[in-house]
Amino acid sequence: MDAKNFISERGASLKPSAIREIFKYSGDPNFISFAGGYPDPDVFPIERLKEVMTEALDKYGKKGLQYSATEGVPELRRYLVDFMAEHENVKGQGEENIIITTASQQSLFLVGLVLIDPGDVVLVEAPTYLGALSAFDPFGPEYVSVPTDENGVIPEKLEEIVRDLKKQGKRVKFLYVIPTFQNPAGYTLSLERRKRLVEIAEREDFLLVEDDPYSYLVYEGERPPCIKSFDTSEHVVYLSTFSKTFVPGFRLGWIVANKDIIRRIAIAKQGADLCTGAFMQYVTYLYMQKDYFFDHIEAMRKIYKVKHAAMLEALDKYMSDIPGVYWSKPKGGFFVWLVVPEQVDCDQLFDKAIENKVVYVRGSAFFANGQGKNTARLNFSQPKVEDIDKGIKILADVIKQTINK
Ligand SMILES: Cc1ncc(COP(=O)(O)O)c(C=O)c1O
Repeated sequence: MDAKNFISERGASLKPSAIREIFKYSGDPNFISFAGGYPDPDVFPIERLKEVMTEALDKYGKKGLQYSATEGVPELRRYLVDFMAEHENVKGQGEENIIITTASQQSLFLVGLVLIDPGDVVLVEAPTYLGALSAFDPFGPEYVSVPTDENGVIPEKLEEIVRDLKKQGKRVKFLYVIPTFQNPAGYTLSLERRKRLVEIAEREDFLLVEDDPYSYLVYEGERPPCIKSFDTSEHVVYLSTFSKTFVPGFRLGWIVANKDIIRRIAIAKQGADLCTGAFMQYVTYLYMQKDYFFDHIEAMRKIYKVKHAAMLEALDKYMSDIPGVYWSKPKGGFFVWLVVPEQVDCDQLFDKAIENKVVYVRGSAFFANGQGKNTARLNFSQPKVEDIDKGIKILADVIKQTINK
C-alpha cells in the first residue's frame, strides 16, 4: 500500500511545525531548552485539583461524564459571560456570544474554517504565532504580514497595507493579533494602538481576531485591557484559554464574538468533536467558583517573575557586549525575542547551539513570509532558573564564535 495514493492534496500540503521537530532535543534532560512554550509543570495546582475533581464527580458526575452541548456546559458558559464583563470589561454579551472550545488551538482552527475563503487576505503580525498559521493554512488564505515594533502592530503600516490591498481589489478578512506578551516576540500592543486598531477595523470593515493567552501572566506594571473591551461594533473575535492560567492538559478555551459567527463556529465544532469534555468544564467551573483561579495566578506570577528576571539579567550579562545583538524586554508572558546581526549564519548558529546542548526555536518559523532568519524565540517559563543563566552564557559564546568566523 502506498499511502501517497490516498492522501488528499490538502493533507499532503500540511507542513509539520518547526516546534515539533525540535522536540527530540527539548525533551532530552541533557539539553537546556529555550524551545518550549509550555507552563512549568511544578506550578500545576495538583492538590487543589484532587479536592475539586472529587467534588465535581459528586456534584456533576452524571452530567460531566456524559456528552454535552457543543457550545459548552451552561454553568461555565454563564460564568464566562460574567467573567468577561467583570475582569475584561467586555460588557453586554449573552450566552449566544460565547462558545467553549477544546482550547485556543481549536478556536483558531474553527475561526479559520468559518471565516477564511481561499485567497482571502489574512493579516498577521511579523512575527506571529506559528500555530495560528498551521490552523489557518488548510483554508488557503493569502497572508500579508504587518510590521510590528515593541509596541505591537504599527497602525500606520496597517492602514497603508489595507489601502494597497483594496486598490488591488483584495478582500481583507481579518487581522490576527496577539496583543499582550506576544508569542513569539513578547511585545505588548500599546493602549493607544489597541483603540486605533479597532477604529481601523471598523472603518475598513475587517475583523480583528484577538488571541489572549498570556495577559494574566504579568510581571511588571499593569495588565492591559483587551482589544475587545473597545469594540462597539462586533468587529473583534476574542479568543482566550485556560492553558496558561490554569492547566493546558484540560484543553479548555473560549471565543467571544458576534452571535452569528458563534453559531457558525458551533456548527463547525459539531463536525470536529461534538463537544469539549464536560467533566473538565465542570471541574474548571468549580475551581473558578472557589476563587482558586486568581490565587493560583498570583502563585504562578511569583515563580515566572523570577525566571523572567533571570532571563533578562543573563541576556544583559552575557550578550550586551555583542555588537548587533538585541532582544525584547517583555513585561509578562513566556518569551523573549532575540535578534542577531544579519550576517550571522543562522543555520550554523543553531547547529552549534545544539552541539553545545542548548536549543531554541529559530525565529523564521514565526513569519508568514520567510523573513526573520536572524531571530530566535527564547522561552523562560520552562527551564530552571540556574539553567537560564547557564544556557544564555553558552548561547552568547556560540553567537560570538559564529560572528567571528
Ligand atoms: C498565541 C497562542 N495562541 C494559541 C495557543 C494555543 O494554546 P491552547 O490550545 O493550549 O489554548 C498558544 C499556545 O502556546 C499560543 O501561544
